[in-house]
Amino acid sequence: MASKTEELRQRVLSEIEGVRSVKALSELKVAYLGKNGAIKALLRGMKDIPAENRAEFGKAVNELSDDVSALFEQKEAALKKKELQEKFASQAVDITLPGKRPLSGGLHPLTIVKNKIIDAFIGMGFEIFEGPEIDSDYYCFQALNIPKDHPARDMQDTFYFTDNILLRPHTSPGQVRSMEKGKLPIKILSPGRVYRADDDASHSPMFHQIEGLVVDKGVSLCDLKGLLDEFVRVIFDGDTETRFRPSYFPFTEPSVEVDVTCCKCHGKGCGLCKGTGWIEILGAGVVNKNVLKMSGIDPDIYSGLAFGLGIERVTMIKYGIPDIRTLFESNLKFLEQFDRR
Ligand code: PHE
Repeated sequence: MASKTEELRQRVLSEIEGVRSVKALSELKVAYLGKNGAIKALLRGMKDIPAENRAEFGKAVNELSDDVSALFEQKEAALKKKELQEKFASQAVDITLPGKRPLSGGLHPLTIVKNKIIDAFIGMGFEIFEGPEIDSDYYCFQALNIPKDHPARDMQDTFYFTDNILLRPHTSPGQVRSMEKGKLPIKILSPGRVYRADDDASHSPMFHQIEGLVVDKGVSLCDLKGLLDEFVRVIFDGDTETRFRPSYFPFTEPSVEVDVTCCKCHGKGCGLCKGTGWIEILGAGVVNKNVLKMSGIDPDIYSGLAFGLGIERVTMIKYGIPDIRTLFESNLKFLEQFDRR
């Protein structure tokens, strides 16, 4: 009798030993501990046991049942742990592999330079004032002291929609639009796209300008020089110098063009600066009294200064870019050099 339970215990032990999966173990558990399992079968055989031995037998079977349950629990825990370890091992990530870097965008060099210029002037108290890209002959020319048939119109080959409506060839119409508002003093910066029928290594039919205008009492050429020197100091290397050269624009009197020392040869003279050591960056001047008058400002009380610079030109000088067209080709190899994040 005792040997019956002992025999079963040995069988369970050896069978559990050989089990390799949680699933097989639970099948085996049913076979021993289930309703129709081997241990319940022993109890059912109780009736064949002599009455005096029944108590002892029952005790032995219960003990066996408890022990076997405990064995199954132990084995189950061990198998689950092993299976989890195997799962982790098979799903392991090799953290030493180089990751996949997402392609991140960056700012275009023209945007970088535009932002720098705007920051420089905002720091000096300027406000942004934007005008339309399609404008009338009046704002683009007449109100800037360039009457119809004036030879100065040839300075810019312009794209016309009609006799009167055109793509603005400069941001100077912004001067007129801000003066017309009638609020004084004025200290504005007007950035935007401009268009001219020009296309070569240093000219693009669409490019960007930033116009500056200050109108107040007692504004002079001296203030213009101070403003532009500060702008050059912020945008270019510390050792870049400026030079004012007399020039002509119908809307300023006197008019100047401002040169900076060549970024490539630092003033010695090279191919980029055509041997002069200087590169022109902008046009400027004291606002012509006629322009003030036409916009309803009394030139005997107020005076103004204005300047207009090309963002492409400043960008090309700052970064030593020889051909303006590279700025519009969307070539990532070129663009990635400027703003990599
Ligand atoms: N509008 C001029 C140009 O496009 C630049 C300029 C602006 C000159 C303001 C003087 C004053 O060339």
